[in-house]
This record gives sequence, C-alpha cells and structure tokens, in this order.
Amino acid sequence: MGTEAELSTFKSPHDVVVETERLRLRPVYPLTDLYVFHRMRRNPRSMQTTGAETEEDPFKSVSFDRMRTMTSPGSFSFAIELKSNSTDEPDATIGVMGLFRPPGCGYLLDEPYWGRGYATEALSAFVKTYWEYFPEGAPGIRPEDRNIIIAGVYEGNVASEKVLKKAGFREIRKEPVETPSGPSQETVFMIERPNKVLLPDEVTGNMI
Ligand SMILES: CC(C)(COP(=O)(O)OP(=O)(O)OC[C@H]1O[C@@H](n2cnc3c(N)ncnc32)[C@H](O)[C@@H]1OP(=O)(O)O)[C@@H](O)C(=O)NCCC(=O)NCCS
Repeated sequence: MGTEAELSTFKSPHDVVVETERLRLRPVYPLTDLYVFHRMRRNPRSMQTTGAETEEDPFKSVSFDRMRTMTSPGSFSFAIELKSNSTDEPDATIGVMGLFRPPGCGYLLDEPYWGRGYATEALSAFVKTYWEYFPEGAPGIRPEDRNIIIAGVYEGNVASEKVLKKAGFREIRKEPVETPSGPSQETVFMIERPNKVLLPDEVTGNMI
C-alpha cells in the first residue's frame, strides 16, 4: 500500500545494466514499472503457487510493497527487457528478477514470453553479475550468506525448477510451506560463488 508521492521517492539502489544476447537487465524504474509488474502479478497463471494479486489499484496492492522491497537498500533487483529487432519497436519490459531479500532470489516473466529460454538466459547473467559486483555479498548480508544465492520453488512449479537447474543451482532441501490453497512443499535451491570469499574463521584457521 502506498501513494504516488511515496512511489516517486523509490529509487533503485544500483545502476547496473546487464546485456545478454536477447535481453537487457536494467535497474527498476518504479514510476512506470509498477504498472507492468502489477499487471503481471494479477495473472493467475503466473502466480499459481503463490496466489495472484486480486487488488486492481496498484497503489493498494502487494505489488506496491514488492516495489518498495525491490528498491530498498541491499536489494539487487532488475527489470528484464526484450531487445527489439527493429528500430520502429521499443524494447518490451517482460519481467523482473533479483535478490529481493538477499541471499534469496526471485523472478517473474510476463506469460506471452514463457518457454523461450528467457528466464534461464536472464538468471545465468544475473548470477554472474552478482558475483562480480558484490565480491563480499550484497550490502548488509550476513557473513554466512555472502557466497550463496538461494531460491525457493513451490511444489508443481516445474518450469522454475528447470530454470534453476539450467542456471547451475542445485536442490538442497525441501520444507513445508503454507500456500493460498493449503499446506504444500517448497524445494530450496542454491548456487555457490565460484571463487568464495573466505570467512574470518576460515582465513585464520580458527575452528572454535
Ligand atoms: C518460471 C518462469 C520464470 C520460467 O520462464 P521461462 O522463460 O519460460 O523459462 P525457460 O524458457 O528459460 O525454461 C523453462 C523450462 O521449463 C519448461 N516448462 C515450462 N512449463 C512447464 C511445465 N508446465 N511443465 C514442465 N516443464 C515446463 C520449458 O519447456 C523449459 O524447459 P526446457 O529448457 O527443457 O525446454 C515463468 O514461467 C514465470 O514467470 N512463471 C511465473 C512466476 C514464477 O513461477 N516464478 C518463479 C517463482 S520460484
């Protein structure tokens, strides 16, 4: 929940732009992205496992709160643009991805763009960029979380599980979770930094 005045104060905490073959990951522009993001979140097929947004007004919606999270300090979030093949057509904003609450990552693509490998392409680039920009992990992250990214997938979201595995994540545990349609299970995936930052205990060899 929020107001236009509050939205105008939201600002991405980073200015990183990532180019892949077909996509561009750019900082979130709250004033325009809120509407695109809210429309995607209102699609029941997109939010099958977590429950779709039912509120029509973006300012009264959970989408507004998510936008606040995506632009808060410590978050490393992006809007995903599909690069246009023609100079006559603008690049389309087709999704969002990020470490909304580090080390947890999430993503959502607009339904017309599913099944073309875009999420895998975006996630692979995102992970690489995170390791590069934050050699010691996102600002304010707990030391034990500096070298990992995790993602939780609700039972039945096969597409998302495939995306994570294709991007190099591995399953680490399953845990019970409460969903809008009742109790279910969440599978937690993790990827580790290739060149890990050693924790103080590991540097000194102090095992106590
Ligand atoms: C999950 C999501 C991001 C996937 O995006 P995408 O761009 O379609 O993903 P990709 O094309 O990179 O890969 C999807 C894979 O799952 C497969 N797939 C898609 N739907 C599937 C289904 N219902 N059952 C089994 N496999 C499925 C695709 O064929 C593809 O596999 P392949 O590479 O072996 O062909 C997109 O569906 C989405 O935004 N869903 C709603 C939000 C969501 O679930 N977010 C993740 C929360 S953890």
